[in-house]
Amino acid sequence: MKNMLVTGGCGFIGTNFIRYLLNESDFSGRVINVDKLTYAGNPENLFDIERDFPERYIFVKVDICDCDGIARIFDDYEIDTVCHFAAESHVDRSIVSPDAFIQTNIVGTFNLLESAKSNQDRLQLFYHISTDEVFGSLGREGFFTEETPYRPNSPYSASKAASDHLVRAYYKTYGLPVIISNCSNNYGPYQFPEKLIPLIILNALEGKPLPVYGDGRYIRDWLYVRDHCIAIWELIKNGKRGGTYNIGGNNEVENINLVEMICDILDGLQKSKDNKSRRELIAFVKDRPGHDRRYAIDSTKLKKELGWVPEESLETGIHKTIKWYLDNQEWVDRVRSGEYQSWIKEHYDFGNCIIRDKN
Ligand code: NAD
Ligand code: TYD
Repeated sequence: MKNMLVTGGCGFIGTNFIRYLLNESDFSGRVINVDKLTYAGNPENLFDIERDFPERYIFVKVDICDCDGIARIFDDYEIDTVCHFAAESHVDRSIVSPDAFIQTNIVGTFNLLESAKSNQDRLQLFYHISTDEVFGSLGREGFFTEETPYRPNSPYSASKAASDHLVRAYYKTYGLPVIISNCSNNYGPYQFPEKLIPLIILNALEGKPLPVYGDGRYIRDWLYVRDHCIAIWELIKNGKRGGTYNIGGNNEVENINLVEMICDILDGLQKSKDNKSRRELIAFVKDRPGHDRRYAIDSTKLKKELGWVPEESLETGIHKTIKWYLDNQEWVDRVRSGEYQSWIKEHYDFGNCIIRDKN
């Protein structure tokens, strides 16, 4: 592997992956990061990487839906490995305006597959990062395995499911060497503060309401982003071509308990201005339409084949994440002053929320 195309490298997981790859792993080739820089892409995340690895890190601003642009990248940089993160990734946005999800997640993935197919003689791997949300929702019992049927419920998960099927079809039909992994909810440094964990941390620091959808009893299985990056790198090296793998954090928790945990850790690290518990900021708000009740991943296959297990527990991972946001206030300020602000004004109406009954 000499030339790895990473798509969406300026987003949350892509940033962490490139940082892991160049700073910590045994990868010795070049990374070509292609990103359209949507509201969620921040090239600043990798300025130090650009400085420290001038020969091994290249950033090119390209939309993955641009056929000619992507074809040129494959030619110019002799791409032999693709690690595909680029996507529209936020469920709430997909409910309000699904168009970009169809374009980037489906058409963009198709476009990358076509370029990969045209360079098949050189291509060692097309690695597709997907989500456990393609499996739909679980009841109280059971876990998603690699054999669970696809039942996506949101425009986001439906678009990711479609892209997974395309990747699989290119393996079966054209013999393209692919791997698909479906992971649970990630959290950690550099996550855009529209997703639950960074949103709660930053609102809590600013004394703003902490919006919890519906009854707050929805369950997610949280995966610390560095653990995810380690799994991806192990799979790139040793995963079975044509295989699918589930990656989970083994950290199931109800949203309300997670929000309370963040409040308590923050109170311990930095008291609020009025010295009150941040739990008092919790506000139950209108539920998300089609909200999946529970996700939980069985990562046995990954453990058996590659010996991978997550290093972080929810407590240690949340601690590290909160510390990162506290230590990176300038990053937070710059991200929050961008388009995010106007979007949040348009889509979050706290006028209708019910303030939590503290008893
Ligand atoms: P993100 O929204 O933080 O970043 C997405 C990146 O893709 C941004 O840098 C954005 O600019 C870029 N991008 C968007 N459209 C593009 C286009 N048309 N062309 C080029 N670049 C484009 O997302 P993330 O949380 O880092 O997620 C990365 C991948 O992991 C996605 O495929 C997502 O579906 C998947 N995933 C994420 C999670 C999670 O919890 N964050 C969980 C499961 C799977
Ligand atoms: P999110 O971080 O958007 O990830 P996903 O929808 O991909 O799971 O949401 C995680 C959970 O938190 C989900 O059950 C929705 C809930 N949630 C809230 O309760 N309040 C919020 O403000 C957000 C953004 C999410």
